[in-house]
Amino acid sequence: MKGDKSKDIFNMFDQESPIATEMRRLYSNIRNKLQKKSMRSFLITSANRGEGKSTVASHLALTVARFKEKKSLIVDSDLRRPKIDKIFNVPKEPGLFECLEGKADPLDVVKDTRIENLKVITSGRTERSPAHLFERDVMTQIFDKIKFYYDIVIVDSAPVIPVSDPMLVSGAVDGVILVTLAGKTPRNVAIRAKKILQDADANIIGVVINNLSEVLPYYYDYNYYGYSSKFKK
Ligand SMILES: Nc1ncnc2c1ncn2[C@@H]1O[C@H](COP(=O)(O)OP(=O)(O)OP(=O)(O)O)[C@@H](O)[C@H]1O
Ligand SMILES: [Mg+2]
Repeated sequence: MKGDKSKDIFNMFDQESPIATEMRRLYSNIRNKLQKKSMRSFLITSANRGEGKSTVASHLALTVARFKEKKSLIVDSDLRRPKIDKIFNVPKEPGLFECLEGKADPLDVVKDTRIENLKVITSGRTERSPAHLFERDVMTQIFDKIKFYYDIVIVDSAPVIPVSDPMLVSGAVDGVILVTLAGKTPRNVAIRAKKILQDADANIIGVVINNLSEVLPYYYDYNYYGYSSKFKK
């Protein structure tokens, strides 16, 4: 659908829709964390493919940019199955890949969207085995630089069970939001994803229950709703 403006997120996003309402709720939940702990960058991941990571990441970014008018940036760290370029209808290259390679400066690959205070860093070149590129120091440098210019950074990523890429990114962000697909992500699989992230010292701050047919996603504060205790081993 690349290049088809009628299908991009700006035309599809309805501020009055249930998903927009839930996204505002999600944002108001994480806003407290933003203020209290000066958290600014959030990784959106899930256990497996197709659970709604890119959808949640892009709607959240759009909501933050529109609702609070914060200087917002969405980064596509899924170099295997990138989608943010299509969702926001911007060229895929250059992007994060070129920054990780050391061939581009993150600020130089930032692209505009149709919303003034929402910018995008796309995946850049698609890479089948990018794990070697996600070096912790390089990632941290990139995110430190980006965070200096943006109030909030939302990072879309690959799923944690099939690949290790998101764990390598998680150390460079302030918090991780785990997306699960209602009725589809088995409990033990969600628990495994959580364990993998925790073993990588990721700071899981919440769980989004995404549902393709209902008024969702719902956001659960990881601690507040007792998810952490339900989730124990
Ligand atoms: N809440 C929702 N309502 C309707 N459709 C949705 C919702 N969440 C996701 N989808 C659709 O489900 C499909 C998969 O979603 P998405 O691409 O966001 O998942 P993903 O976890 O990023 O996948 P991947 O692992 O391939 O990166 C897309 O076609 C998307 O439009
Ligand atoms: Mg995706």
